[in-house]
Amino acid sequence: MKLLFIGDIVGAPGREIVKEYLPRLKRKYQPTFIVANGENSANGKGITQKIAKELMEAGIQAITLGNHTWDNKEIFDFIEEEERVIRPANFPPGTPGNGITYVKQPEGELAIINLQGRAFLPPLDCPFAAADQLVEQARKRTKYIFVDFHAEATSEKQALAWYLDGRISALVGTHTHVQTGDERILPQGTGYLTDVGMCGPSDGILGMERETVIKRFLTQLPVRFEVAGGPTQLNAVLITLDRTTGKTAHIQRIRIDAEHPYME
Ligand SMILES: [Fe+2]
Ligand SMILES: [Fe+2]
Repeated sequence: MKLLFIGDIVGAPGREIVKEYLPRLKRKYQPTFIVANGENSANGKGITQKIAKELMEAGIQAITLGNHTWDNKEIFDFIEEEERVIRPANFPPGTPGNGITYVKQPEGELAIINLQGRAFLPPLDCPFAAADQLVEQARKRTKYIFVDFHAEATSEKQALAWYLDGRISALVGTHTHVQTGDERILPQGTGYLTDVGMCGPSDGILGMERETVIKRFLTQLPVRFEVAGGPTQLNAVLITLDRTTGKTAHIQRIRIDAEHPYME
């Protein structure tokens, strides 16, 4: 049982590299489940129904979001109906959408939980308490439970992974757009990676045009960030789940530089 999780898809360049490489990734790794973070898929800010559909047609079975969930107002038109697009579960009560979804395949069912951190991000309900509640709910239904923890601070990501060790299959981080090299399996069997990284422009700053980001740092003036051009990269993680326990048997980072692809 394999789960391929694709990090934050940034704008059209991110969508293009995902669509280009997903068929090869499927052939090579034969994933049972494919999930992606789509919080930046619409021009860097949020997601639209058309883009969600486009990503699902490419083979992505569920989409997680993050702090950019509401940046494109079209989200309000479909998040209530589209169960396969989820936003962080610890958003305030009454927020549209859900923070958990399930993908069913003949081999089993995967629960996908999306949570957001509180360090260096807007204040939200406690992600640990939200995780307790959702993991308990998911465990009644399946042993395969995956968490996308959308957070800035490495410490918060490590803390939640250790807190949930043994209760979930795997927890990976998103949001920083930079892949970390610390993939591991915790003692009770939960797979972990601090950040998966992003899909999109390699030479921008977190995928956005460098000039505007640098201008912002130099002047502190408000600027409008645009998705960068140029070469692109795809960052993902492949997690092999044990069929008996539902825990992680193997975790492997995937990083494709479109200019220097290592995959045939
Ligand atoms: Fe992001
Ligand atoms: Fe984010």
